[in-house]
Amino acid sequence: MRMRGRKLLSIVLPLLLIIILCISYISNHLRDNTDDEFLIHLPESDASTAAPAQGQRPGPLLNLTDFDYLLPNDLCRRADRELLAVLIVTSYAGHDALRAAHRQAISQSKLAEMGLQRIFLLAKLPVRELFITQAQLASEQDRFGDLLQGNFVEDYRNLSYKHVMGLRWAATECQHRAKFIIKLDDDIIYDIFHLRRYLESLEVAQPTLATSNTLLAGYVLDAKPPIRNQANKWYVTRQEYPHALYPAYLSGWLYITNAATASRLVAEAAHTSIFWIDDTWLTGIVRTRLGIPLERHNDWYSANAEFLDCCVRDLKQWSYECEFYAGPNGADAKLLIEFLHNVEKCYFDECSKRPASKSLKQTCVASAKALVPDHGVAVVQPIKLR
Ligand SMILES: *[C@@H]1O[C@H](CO)[C@@H](O)[C@H](O)[C@H]1NC(C)=O
Ligand SMILES: *[C@@H]1O[C@H](CO)[C@@H](O)[C@H](O)[C@H]1NC(C)=O
Repeated sequence: MRMRGRKLLSIVLPLLLIIILCISYISNHLRDNTDDEFLIHLPESDASTAAPAQGQRPGPLLNLTDFDYLLPNDLCRRADRELLAVLIVTSYAGHDALRAAHRQAISQSKLAEMGLQRIFLLAKLPVRELFITQAQLASEQDRFGDLLQGNFVEDYRNLSYKHVMGLRWAATECQHRAKFIIKLDDDIIYDIFHLRRYLESLEVAQPTLATSNTLLAGYVLDAKPPIRNQANKWYVTRQEYPHALYPAYLSGWLYITNAATASRLVAEAAHTSIFWIDDTWLTGIVRTRLGIPLERHNDWYSANAEFLDCCVRDLKQWSYECEFYAGPNGADAKLLIEFLHNVEKCYFDECSKRPASKSLKQTCVASAKALVPDHGVAVVQPIKLR
């Protein structure tokens, strides 16, 4: 009996071993196959859950049912690491010289080194536009890849479409790819080094706000009345806006938000009747419906282009820090270049505080048009000389 048992074992054991090896080989092989299939399908399913893939239509924009991009942009998808912020710059399609100034002031590759990227928001060229063609815009896109163009016609009364187009693009294309969104106009001077430092500190000092869906920071305009003077470009009829005052809103000159907040604004905007003054509408009327508070940084801004001009002068000559970080360029496209090229050294501790005796107000211009970022209300304020 014992002998027969051993003989049986000597046959059964190798058999068992062979069977086990076979099973493990087959199962490994099968798993490899399923892995392959999984890998093939992964990009597709990932894209469908995130945002429309390239070439897919972006869907209606507010009540523009046939909205599409004339020039799409996938810049955020191409970033090789998470960005600190994406800059969306409202730009009239014909302002190619102004966009060139932005690129000369700070290039996309230098922005990339700082964890930033920039796109310009354009609409369709109006028929009356004689100085630039769509073919030129297409070649500008080939060269720089930083345009996003919608198919509605350029008009200051269409800025709300452009603004929502930009926020929607940033909120979907850059979700999980950029921590912050900076919205600005193409005629604004801005200290990108200051903004970067602010955003980095915000992540550390106020992480809940930084990642919340209630981040809106910038120049707060409190309870402004609509302009009821028909001669003004920003004249608003009572049909367009019946109330005496606007809710507090952020100047569209430059403000900071993030994808979570932007996507709420975009979703709510779709259910809010459109008002053509874009910053008042989105960061005022639409924002109020969501109960999002505003972060006030009014002291960053100079409404006075001459002050920024004087800042450049004093940066060059004395390396004085500029007390302002943003403001209009006063129709001087080159001022942004001068400003950014000179202000950078202050972030390498090569600048000093401006002495109280040489304040901008005292040393700058005798009189300047103080533009309030409130759509064309220009007040001439005499500024005292020493
Ligand atoms: C969209 O709404 C605006 C504002 O109410 C209106 O003036 C415009 O005609 C509408 N456009 C379309 C395409 O429905
Ligand atoms: C706005 O865009 C629409 C769609 O392209 C266009 O028909 C209209 O003329 C533009 N301007 C205004 C003021 O609505």
